[in-house]
Amino acid sequence: VRTAAVIPAAGRGVRLGPGAPKALRALGGTPMLVHAVRAMADSRAVSLVVVVAPPDGAGEVKSLLDAHALPERTDVLVVPGGDSRQESVKRGLDALPEGYDIVLVHDAARPLVPVDTVDAVVEAVRDGAVAVVPALPLADTVKQVEPAAAPGEPEPVVATPDRSELRAVQTPQGFDRATLVRAHETVTDDVTDDAGMVERLGLTVVTVPGHEEAFKVTRPLDLVLAEAVLARRRL
Ligand code: C5P
Repeated sequence: VRTAAVIPAAGRGVRLGPGAPKALRALGGTPMLVHAVRAMADSRAVSLVVVVAPPDGAGEVKSLLDAHALPERTDVLVVPGGDSRQESVKRGLDALPEGYDIVLVHDAARPLVPVDTVDAVVEAVRDGAVAVVPALPLADTVKQVEPAAAPGEPEPVVATPDRSELRAVQTPQGFDRATLVRAHETVTDDVTDDAGMVERLGLTVVTVPGHEEAFKVTRPLDLVLAEAVLARRRL
């Protein structure tokens, strides 16, 4: 069974501060997106990576990827993205050739996910799960609140879910291709991850252990941490 990875990389990354689109920001001198593509290509299971570029930036992304070495056995396709992450993933799925029956969806914003995590996700799909997410226990207690009208205003707490039953989920998320395509065709609500769409179909999503280094680079402090992780790997 062949496996492809779709990498939505069309976001602006406004929370990271001003500058280039997030996926094109450098980490250790190399664009975050290149790290993310390599993280997928490093898995022997993955033979195709579909990168979903900013709508007006597909050409730029293509030349960027051509300029960086990737394993020979991996093909790379670049397609333009959409207005939402969901739309971008759908465009990536639409571009998938026949013959790829397992699909990973991986955020460009998680450039440092270790290959063992990628392999564990693929293996769980091969073992029969229709949707797989890498997950970690939470360090923080989580409160459900009544969101304030304006940022910074106090927000009444509504509930405190039992932390032992909560997990923070990462990417790559792995799917049986037909299931993910059906989810994207039928689910129209806004969801923040692809596995959430499969849940809406009434199907079971399972977790595998995530990894601390698969964290999402969202805010400026995350860039500091990512640089430190890279520097440690290069020792
Ligand atoms: O905004 P957030 O960090 O949740 O984005 C997660 C991923 O989705 C990022 O890799 C981002 O580039 C991608 N994305 C996209 N198309 C959009 C918005 C976000 O591909 N319209």
